Amino acid sequence: MKVFPGSSDIYCAFLKKGKYTSAKGRLNNKNKMKKLFRLALVSSLSLMCFSCYYDELYIEEIPEIPEDQVVSFQDDIQPLFTANCIGCHNTTIANPDLREGNSYNAIVPEYVIAEDAENSELYQNLPGLPGTDHPVETNSPLDVEEIALIKGWIDQGAENN
Ligand code: HEC
Repeated sequence: MKVFPGSSDIYCAFLKKGKYTSAKGRLNNKNKMKKLFRLALVSSLSLMCFSCYYDELYIEEIPEIPEDQVVSFQDDIQPLFTANCIGCHNTTIANPDLREGNSYNAIVPEYVIAEDAENSELYQNLPGLPGTDHPVETNSPLDVEEIALIKGWIDQGAENN
């Protein structure tokens, strides 16, 4: 490349530089794509992990009622039925009848095994219980504290107290 010394050197250098930068440019683009791909992979993986974590968080433990706290059917349980259930559980739309005065005889013993909440149909069907068997979604599912009260009441013997 010494035919036109001077100018050709510059030309060659220019060409080389052009090649060099464009090759490097391509390399850069490749790296960018790799980086983007890795970023997408990492973020989708972490999203997946996060959603599992979220599921675990969502399934809250039902707290245990302290042994010395006596749960009253009239004062603790019936108000939950009255506030959250009787729009449907009034025999017109759904059974059991959970209206005040009718509810105890409607659920004990048919839906309640005294001292065994987990095997009681009432407990298994509570709206709001994670994995509930309740056949329909309701507007006011019970929260974990309310579910804990019902569980406590059954486990304490499901008395009409
Ligand atoms: C939006 C209406 C609606 C609300 C509100 C509702 N339920 Fe239900 N529930 C139903 C329907 C419908 C069924 C199926 C009833 C049937 O087969 O007669 C049902 C079934 C049940 C069963 C099982 C009955 C069976 O035969 O297996 C239980 C227990 C129950 N509900 C408890 C509750 C409790 C406790 C609440 C309030 C915290 C509640 N439900 C709120 C509509 C409702």
